[in-house]
Amino acid sequence: MEKIPIILDGDPGHDDAIAWVFAKADPRFDIKAVVSVAGNQTNEKTTRNTRAICALLGIDAPVARGAVRPITADPVTAGNWHGDSGLDGPKMPEPDQELSPLAAVDLMAKVIEESDKPVTIIATGPLTNVAELMIVHPEVKNNIGCISIMGGGLTHGNWCPAAEFNIFEDPEAAHLVFHAGIPMMMCGLDVTEKAIVLPSDIDRIRSVGNQVAEVVAGWVEFFIRYPMEIGYAGAPVHDPCAVLMLTHPEIFETKDLYVDIELEGEYTRGATVADFNGRPENKPNVKCALAIDRDKYIDLLVEALHAYDGREVKIR
Ligand code: BDR
Ligand code: CA
Repeated sequence: MEKIPIILDGDPGHDDAIAWVFAKADPRFDIKAVVSVAGNQTNEKTTRNTRAICALLGIDAPVARGAVRPITADPVTAGNWHGDSGLDGPKMPEPDQELSPLAAVDLMAKVIEESDKPVTIIATGPLTNVAELMIVHPEVKNNIGCISIMGGGLTHGNWCPAAEFNIFEDPEAAHLVFHAGIPMMMCGLDVTEKAIVLPSDIDRIRSVGNQVAEVVAGWVEFFIRYPMEIGYAGAPVHDPCAVLMLTHPEIFETKDLYVDIELEGEYTRGATVADFNGRPENKPNVKCALAIDRDKYIDLLVEALHAYDGREVKIR
């Protein structure tokens, strides 16, 4: 089977972790590198979580530490959603491989340069690493097939009324990436808040019966608390959508749109502004997800978890 080389870039984060569960489970993907970024928690914490998730799932690609802060914005973290560790809840295995000696941008560039096929980047955190890759290694652009992101929202935000967390965290990075001229896919809050895991789904996840399913059930049990307190029906498990847009496009409705990033607005900094009217000067730069089949999403999660049947690692 022709595999697609991919780089996972995230700030785990419960939903980043579940995104990587999907990515590792799909036999069409060849994970070439995993890089961490500051976002849901400090980079030190997201890097530790990245390494533990790789040990849990059996991802043996090199792991590199990425950006410790946004390009110019003041860093914020989302401990209210993800806890003090950034991945509170079930116990995790110890990391089983050393960190790459390369910085994330250099590892990403190496993977892309050495690949005989275009590499896909799946970015589920702030876009700092990807933007820095464009700045430090602009020559690799031509061998990036696609950047699939969870970020933004075409109608609303979550961190503030107009901006979603990943874009709000580093709007300058997002601006650079959205204008890089590389094919992009965007799953914003419009679909990811519909990618809801309900309390009643947790038993179904756990009943898959393997170790990874047990951990994922535990992650959802932690991750569901805060959103339910503030009025969601369950846990919006955002980040896997950026994986599923590539592997299961049939569960989404999409539209090619021109999307720009607001960098100035007093109330709107970090907003993703889409031109739904298709003005001639605004050539579409992003394939945007507009709707998702939630029931299929849960079915696919259960199916992905079965890929880990028989896998058992030591948990501390
Ligand atoms: C995004 O922000 C983070 O808290 C999640 O991991 C997700 O990537 C949702 O706004
Ligand atoms: Ca994330």
